[in-house]
Amino acid sequence: MKSFSSKIGVLLAAAGSAVGLGSIWKFPYIAGEDGGGAFIILYIICTMLFGMPLVMNEFMIGKLSGKSAYGAFRELSGSNRWQWFAWTIMLSVTILMSFYFVVTGWCIYYMVAAASNTFTGMDAAALTSFFNTFEGHAPLMIVYAIIAIVLTASVLWFDVNKGIERLSKILMPMLFLMLILLAIHMVFLDGGSVGLKFLFKPDFSKITPKVILEAMGMSFFTLSIGVGALITYGSYMPKDQKVTLTSVLMIAMVIVVSLLAGMIVFPAVFAYGFSPSEGPELTFVTLPDVFQHMICPSLTSVAFFALMCVAAITSTISMLEVIVAFVCEATADTKRPLNRHQSVIIVSLIQVVTNTLCILSMTGCVGWLKVMGSNLFDASNNLVTDVLIPIGALGTSLFTGWFVPKAKYQGSRLGTFLYMFVLRWLAPIAIIIIFLNSFNIL
Ligand code: PHE
Repeated sequence: MKSFSSKIGVLLAAAGSAVGLGSIWKFPYIAGEDGGGAFIILYIICTMLFGMPLVMNEFMIGKLSGKSAYGAFRELSGSNRWQWFAWTIMLSVTILMSFYFVVTGWCIYYMVAAASNTFTGMDAAALTSFFNTFEGHAPLMIVYAIIAIVLTASVLWFDVNKGIERLSKILMPMLFLMLILLAIHMVFLDGGSVGLKFLFKPDFSKITPKVILEAMGMSFFTLSIGVGALITYGSYMPKDQKVTLTSVLMIAMVIVVSLLAGMIVFPAVFAYGFSPSEGPELTFVTLPDVFQHMICPSLTSVAFFALMCVAAITSTISMLEVIVAFVCEATADTKRPLNRHQSVIIVSLIQVVTNTLCILSMTGCVGWLKVMGSNLFDASNNLVTDVLIPIGALGTSLFTGWFVPKAKYQGSRLGTFLYMFVLRWLAPIAIIIIFLNSFNIL
């Protein structure tokens, strides 16, 4: 069946897509570094002002057309003029997955290591060297990225209501429960309040144009905007599903999870006298070290990394589904139509290749695999967050704002003046200004 069978299933699958490494891994340290409460306020403003209309818009494009990112633009505009944009989205999500599976592989590796008690007795130096050894070990990283790809593909093997929907209904409540338990555990640690202050104390002096850009980028990334995931899930919505309500609930979940993730990380870091480091180090070196000092170190580490795995896999599922649906639809009218199973296999194999290239480049195994001096991991990460997702967001808002005939969305919430104003003017202008600024043109 090419649709979800229940409203709650759609909501949990969409929340699964949105809640990922962005909320749990990136959000805490960026918020901590970039002004704490002030950054959080900015993030929430960007999410309400731009995120909300853009999420609704993508769901609507999918729901009204009933098509994946390949056919939706043609169906709604009645012409082929937007096909280049459909292909751009497909390229964006392919590049996004090329590094996302790598980090998902790290999470799986760390969960396995935690479960087999590897971290017990390791000090900071040992943990740093454990991480560096892993990060320099291309074959091991490739194996774990492939495990992540195979896990994702095995869910997509089933029809969406049996695979994605069923799994989201089990995993997402588990994820929320784990997050809440871990957050309670951390907040009540002696000295945990210093971490909460670090996270929430607003420091408005840190707010610069660059930080505004970062808040907007973070908002789009955590909401899964701009790469066709929400269009694809929108096309599986039951007819009577309310897009506005689904969007509001999905966004609320993302904000709550991001804040909970910060409440897990920082109280623990400060309670044990660590300093909040940036990036991968925080999650993969500092936290395992912090967990060693807690009452049940193994259980806490396993729970935390299991949570990261669940969050990451429910996101990779939505990314891979974009292309699986795209390929099925794009080949449907050709001499060689591909069915879902064939499409899953081909798309997964492509990801094995792109992730392997990414890993070979980041470990320095193949020296010439670089883009303008950066390894492929950093290059694709920056390209997706700074360029491709904003282009996706800009394109979808201009598309609905200017190119979809009114009759198509008559009667839906999109027809209201405020919505159209945001999609036609406010969002495009804001994205362009931020864009120009990030390339130092403004
Ligand atoms: N929202 C996911 C996260 O926060 C990332 C993502 C982006 C997922 C785009 C799907 C599509 O990690």
